[in-house]
Amino acid sequence: MKICMFSSKAYDEKFFSLNNSNTSKKLETSYLSSHLNEETVYMAEGFDVVCCFVNDNLNAKVLTTLKEQGVQLVALRCAGFNNVDLKAAKQLNLPVCRVPEYSPYAVAEHACALILDLNRNIHRAHNRIRENDYSLDGLLGFDLHSKTVGVVGAGKIGRAFINIMNGFGCNVLVYDPMLTETNAEDNFTQVTLEELLAQSDIISLHCPLTASTQHLIDTQAIDKMKPNVMLINTSRGALVDTVAIIKGLKLKKIGYLGIDVYEEESEIFFEDLSDTFIQDDVFARLQTFPNVMITGHQAFFTKEALNKIAQTTINNIHSYFINKPQDSNLVS
Ligand code: NAI
Repeated sequence: MKICMFSSKAYDEKFFSLNNSNTSKKLETSYLSSHLNEETVYMAEGFDVVCCFVNDNLNAKVLTTLKEQGVQLVALRCAGFNNVDLKAAKQLNLPVCRVPEYSPYAVAEHACALILDLNRNIHRAHNRIRENDYSLDGLLGFDLHSKTVGVVGAGKIGRAFINIMNGFGCNVLVYDPMLTETNAEDNFTQVTLEELLAQSDIISLHCPLTASTQHLIDTQAIDKMKPNVMLINTSRGALVDTVAIIKGLKLKKIGYLGIDVYEEESEIFFEDLSDTFIQDDVFARLQTFPNVMITGHQAFFTKEALNKIAQTTINNIHSYFINKPQDSNLVS
């Protein structure tokens, strides 16, 4: 079986090779650093499977070319599939599988890291101390205890995050339209999106990007929030309207912003751009705020998660080709 892995980094190769060497039927894998898109799709010629990540663009044109080139399976090595035209994949009869869960803790803990850093100004304190500046002005934080945290999307990551916030003694509100039943052990209160926006001191997004969640946080939503709210997005960039967020920051309506994802991240994240400059003016503006913490889509990036991603992707591919498609985490 010949696999072509797009958007591949040294760490992908390391964990994939390690897990591949532990299986009896080895996958013959080529690691490519390029993203998969309309310009690079020709590179998949002669492969049985393409293995893709969050910023590969699997639109109808790319999927059609993959099918024409004889690709039999798209194996996503991520949970989200907003970058795949599933309707086109279905029409083409080109199956797509994914890794539905690898470590919800990795992402939930990273969301928490952003909250703690923004609140207690850890990055500013670190820089000051390196300059022998031990003053505390500008570093004032607040107790997380007793604050209200609004969680949008109580799936695997949302629930891991809720548990952490409960540990800090926060009151947790949840908006999740698919959550119809609550259990006695649920440690949160279900509310409407309006109630969540109006009552939360911290809002953290953990829902998928779909047509209905695109720009869920826009000007109207920001207007409904408490002044000085903290907004955290570790889910997908397009859940928020970044231009509206910048307005909210300038008006001091948003007091803190922590993001691990950005709407136009595919041209920026995962690359070393230190020898160049940022062409994206919206992103560059975001970087100027002292109360904005940006990480480059690294919330998933733990040893445990990379190991599980590699293991599940390899299992998905093997299961699919030994006629056990039901065990291969198919999304289309
Ligand atoms: P999940 O499928 O377990 O949970 C998603 C939850 O969102 C579900 O409970 C669903 O009912 C809810 N939901 C759907 N539509 C909603 C809406 N309109 N409003 C509120 N809630 C809604 O997914 P999981 O594993 O918790 O992942 C969540 C998201 O996190 C993924 O879709 C992905 O975009 C993102 N992610 C980010 C990573 C990173 O490295 N930054 C890594 C992994 C996932």
